[in-house]
Amino acid sequence: MRMKFSLLAFILSLFSCEHPKTSDLDLVNRLSEQLKYAVRLSEPLRDSILTSPRTVENGKLKLVASRDWTSGFFPGNLWMIEELTGDTTWRSIATEFTLPLEKEQWNAGTHDMGFKMFCSFGKAYSITGNPGYKKVLIQSAYTLATRFNANVGCLRSWDHNADKWDFPVIIDNMMNLELLMWASKETGDGHLKDIAVSHARTTMKNHFRADNSSYHVIDYNPETGEIEHRQTHQGYSDESSWARGQAWGLYGYTMMYRETGLSEFLEQAEKIAAFILSQPGLEEGAIPVWDFNAPNIPNEPYDASAGAIITSALYELSQYSTHKEHYIRVAESMLSRLSSPEFLAPVGENMGFLLKHSTGHLPHNSEIDVPIVYADYYFLEAIIRKQHIENI
Ligand code: GLY
Repeated sequence: MRMKFSLLAFILSLFSCEHPKTSDLDLVNRLSEQLKYAVRLSEPLRDSILTSPRTVENGKLKLVASRDWTSGFFPGNLWMIEELTGDTTWRSIATEFTLPLEKEQWNAGTHDMGFKMFCSFGKAYSITGNPGYKKVLIQSAYTLATRFNANVGCLRSWDHNADKWDFPVIIDNMMNLELLMWASKETGDGHLKDIAVSHARTTMKNHFRADNSSYHVIDYNPETGEIEHRQTHQGYSDESSWARGQAWGLYGYTMMYRETGLSEFLEQAEKIAAFILSQPGLEEGAIPVWDFNAPNIPNEPYDASAGAIITSALYELSQYSTHKEHYIRVAESMLSRLSSPEFLAPVGENMGFLLKHSTGHLPHNSEIDVPIVYADYYFLEAIIRKQHIENI
């Protein structure tokens, strides 16, 4: 796909802007200024490999390659800030951060296609309607579909650690189904939808415990479809409830209800919501720590990304559920907490990320209590969803 765009005026404006007094700005303007700052910091670090800011590591801004599962979030943030501000001067820079991911449409080595492509090209297409973006997204969906195994009834999540797992499926994978559902509607190919529904039903059957919490990893036998292990990878223990995993499940089943109208998925989302909101303080808008069973709660690192994903999901779920007021009340409380100085970074700090205090992979001593780009993505999405609900 070839596109022409002029960046000069926009980049000049980034370098000329001074750090504003945050107290003078409303939330959206403040987020916009912070994202301009993020672009200014990122531009000199980008090259033919490194495309997108992900986090802060050893005090430095860390950029990742397009193959990284988080590469789509920063472009998505730029598209969302255009949507929130109505300022189309964002478009050229959002395009510039989106296009380097184009080759990922052919990358069949990961289940993270939805995260990478639907959060970047998907937002780009929904805002611009450019058919070039649509073509990339449809190919991405077909590449993702090659990871489906009919014996298991799921898409395979990871290829790494092949000595440890035969056919690992992680709860996070629910998030990649949105790309398949979208592409099924766009192409009329029901096979893509059938894969997504099968994956969601198999996950519903095997990933969830009696209390509606979920395991992180289920390892299947790819020939028989039997379960070999129920484990964690990023959580505290195999039997614990890793906070972001619970958030992915809530978001995933809410989305699958939106896309299919099947009541089984709405019921599952409501059950997951009930489990999450039974955790101490969450009803009142507390932001989760990284694992609901971590041993030293409340003295455990937060995971603001889990809080942002839950907030965005609850706003959407409120529109389908009879518990509408309840979910909106909790989402408002969480959003307000995320927007407080404890979590929302001052403009010109936090290496350009919006939120502080996320935790990526604590058991590997990685990304503990740091800014992480996907927390910002779901925070922005929650704000957009809140605005849509208020404008209905
Ligand atoms: N999908 C990987 C994570 O949530 O960390």
